[in-house]
Amino acid sequence: MSELVAVAERIAREAGRLVLEGRPETVGVAATKSSAVDVVTAMDLASEDLVRRMLAELRPHDAILGEEGGHRSGTSGVTWVVDPIDGTVNYLYGLPAYAVSVAAVVGEPTPATWTALAGCVHAPATRETWTAGRGLGAHLDGRRLTVAAAPPLGGCLVGTGFGYVAERRRAQARVLAAVLPRVRDVRRMGAAAIDLCQVATGRLDLYYERGLQPWDLAAGALVVTEAGGVVAGLRGAPAGSGMTVAGASERVAELARILEEQEADAPDGPGGESG
Ligand code: IPD
Ligand code: CA
Ligand code: CA
Ligand code: CA
Repeated sequence: MSELVAVAERIAREAGRLVLEGRPETVGVAATKSSAVDVVTAMDLASEDLVRRMLAELRPHDAILGEEGGHRSGTSGVTWVVDPIDGTVNYLYGLPAYAVSVAAVVGEPTPATWTALAGCVHAPATRETWTAGRGLGAHLDGRRLTVAAAPPLGGCLVGTGFGYVAERRRAQARVLAAVLPRVRDVRRMGAAAIDLCQVATGRLDLYYERGLQPWDLAAGALVVTEAGGVVAGLRGAPAGSGMTVAGASERVAELARILEEQEADAPDGPGGESG
């Protein structure tokens, strides 16, 4: 297990160096995906290429699932789930909250079915590196992390994020309007993997977001759970492409109830897919 953590960290650091040092003055948009604001830069692609090359050398029998390059099968049962730049819009604008996220999982590489073994979220611009290994705890730059008991919901600082498609954002704005008056404040910092790690670090009490992809979640969710926190969906569902809620367990349950009230996890509910 610790070998997998070391591989995740080595690769995330190497790719992080590439994206930090290779960042031009003006970052261009190489392509768009689900909408005009869902962008890919040349560095997203270069970072994922580097990760794939390193994995081919270090772990040739493992499978890979990456945001930009899709799935490559393997024979070992281990899949590396990779976000080559989480926080691409921050990267585009020169904001520091972006990271390379690398995790090793076994089982189908979706949050509902995988068992995460190891993960690293490396934020090169802030020089912070979170690591976690199953049963080995979670660390920020070598310091062991423990999710603290959160204050009552009204005193909680809550992170969230938004998708790239207008219809989803309308629904997310409605849910945000219900959450915001009931908590200390809300932050939208722009990189899901870092948001999860901030929960483990105590810089956010809670985090929720709908529509996360496996590469947004794999490493960061392991960091939270290894720090003693909970990462869950609504109504007993696993975290993932539905709603994801992370934090100390009793607060996760409380926030989940509010999100459920908003029908946040009901794609066919009033107003269409929401949350
Ligand atoms: C996005 C970021 C963002 C979150 C979006 C993700 P990307 O990932 O994590 O914070 O709100 O849901 O898609 O596209 O920058 O890798
Ligand atoms: Ca991402
Ligand atoms: Ca990405
Ligand atoms: Ca993206």
